[in-house]
Amino acid sequence: MHEKDLEVLQCPRCHKALQITNVAPLNGNIGSGGMVCKKGHRWTISDGIPSLIYPPMSGEDEKWISEYNEMAEIYDEAVKVYDEWLGINIQKERENIIRSIINDGPKRIIDVSIGTAANYVALANVVGNAAKSYDLHGVDLSRGMIHIAMRKMQELGIDVGIVHANVLNLPYRKDSFDIVIHTGGINTFSDKASAMNEMLRITKPEGIVVVIDEGLSPDVRESERGKSIINKNSLFAARPPLENIPDKARDVELKYIMNGTFYQIIFRK
Ligand SMILES: C[S@@+](CC[C@H](N)C(=O)[O-])C[C@H]1O[C@@H](n2cnc3c(N)ncnc32)[C@H](O)[C@@H]1O
Ligand SMILES: [Zn+2]
Repeated sequence: MHEKDLEVLQCPRCHKALQITNVAPLNGNIGSGGMVCKKGHRWTISDGIPSLIYPPMSGEDEKWISEYNEMAEIYDEAVKVYDEWLGINIQKERENIIRSIINDGPKRIIDVSIGTAANYVALANVVGNAAKSYDLHGVDLSRGMIHIAMRKMQELGIDVGIVHANVLNLPYRKDSFDIVIHTGGINTFSDKASAMNEMLRITKPEGIVVVIDEGLSPDVRESERGKSIINKNSLFAARPPLENIPDKARDVELKYIMNGTFYQIIFRK
């Protein structure tokens, strides 16, 4: 992590500003050490990743997260099965999503549940070297996934401030990001309303939140193809969680992407 990440971070327990303590450098950045807030709550940084999880993970979160930790190395290969099965090219689809949301130049973006940073690989494919002029952040509860994300971003020479934390209590200050993107996790989150509230809280006024996950369009759901997709993977039976969108969200838009197999919800602060 970089010291400049403190501009957007806050203590997940009391929401006060954080300071770095006992720093050991790693490739010119902060490698390991600690963080402390004005109230004395302490947090650790290891391998360049601050852990800002509060309250401690629930048993249900732990179960999901240990699965993600175990599959992290093969995650990118595993999602490729969607391509042939659903008749899509998921990486190209990610590039289309990125193109549609970054229209006016470099910005401060966060990928919530960044996983293996596939959305930032898509950003690099779309804007090339200009990806380095974006202020990129990411957060995830799986250290296994974060390690893959860090490795891929280092290989591309793109700097991303990644934090280990829970979407249900994001350790970021309000009004911090122009774009908050979330792909692929919300269907299984224990509290979708809190997740979306948190995403909107950290969005700047006029900024946007983009939420994408498995969920068939009404047409596809009724078709034989749709029924067989749901039969094979019940996640595709999910419906867009419109009832969990915060009341304060503006300009809510719903559409279906990826051949009618994923929903995309966009709203503005
Ligand atoms: C299906 S993966 C999607 C990863 C990535 N966004 C993508 O599009 O490929 C879901 C991600 O959500 C993360 N996740 C699950 N529960 C979480 C939570 N409570 N807070 C933050 N991240 C969480 C997992 O660790 C995993 O990286
Ligand atoms: Zn604190």
